[in-house]
Amino acid sequence: MKLASREVIIRTAEKSNIPWREMTKKVLESDVYEVFERIRDPNIVYPDYYLSPFHAYDEGNLSWLAAAEAEAATLSIAKRAIPEATSIEEANKIVRGNWMNAIEEHHLKYSGENCQINDILDIGCSVGVSTRYLAERFPSAKAVGLDLSPYFLAVAAQKEEQLSRQNPIRWVHANGEATGLPPNSFDVVSLAYVVISIIS
Ligand SMILES: C[S@@+](CC[C@H](N)C(=O)[O-])C[C@H]1O[C@@H](n2cnc3c(N)ncnc32)[C@H](O)[C@@H]1O
Repeated sequence: MKLASREVIIRTAEKSNIPWREMTKKVLESDVYEVFERIRDPNIVYPDYYLSPFHAYDEGNLSWLAAAEAEAATLSIAKRAIPEATSIEEANKIVRGNWMNAIEEHHLKYSGENCQINDILDIGCSVGVSTRYLAERFPSAKAVGLDLSPYFLAVAAQKEEQLSRQNPIRWVHANGEATGLPPNSFDVVSLAYVVISIIS
């Protein structure tokens, strides 16, 4: 059943022009494993919920397959959220654009025009899609992507190493509930698709 639904998800994404299998293969055949060794905090203690199977992965987010498929999965979510969009690119532009506009409006309202965004923390950055959007929208800021999965972070960092950016993104393997980062050190803290609320 799990295998069958996986196949449906992959085929649906590929029909929307997301080269799911190709993207996955590219990650799995890259030097991401070396980056993993540099980025991983071996002393991290994972919360229990993080060690449970999640999505279609027995090891949840702590696996290479989950990390290699994460970007394709992220792209396809936007298309499902905005079915009227004519392409994946358009759907992502709408979803991410709305989120970025909300950040800018909030910052303007509460911090004022003269307060610049210099430091950004993206908690639950996964493979870095949201962090890259933030870094591109605020190029003069220093962005940090933080996640509990060293596999996801390795994919994010490996991709970032191939880009040349004025302020390269820094990747931190930590728990967003207790980051260990200095207090009051960020102008914007973002959690995109991380927190869910359950209404009963
Ligand atoms: C759906 S993904 C977020 C995607 C990403 N922010 C984006 O917009 O593309 C949720 C992420 O939250 C991370 N996460 C879950 N609990 C966390 C915690 N306590 N601390 C840090 N990251 C956590 C997961 O590893 C996963 O990468």
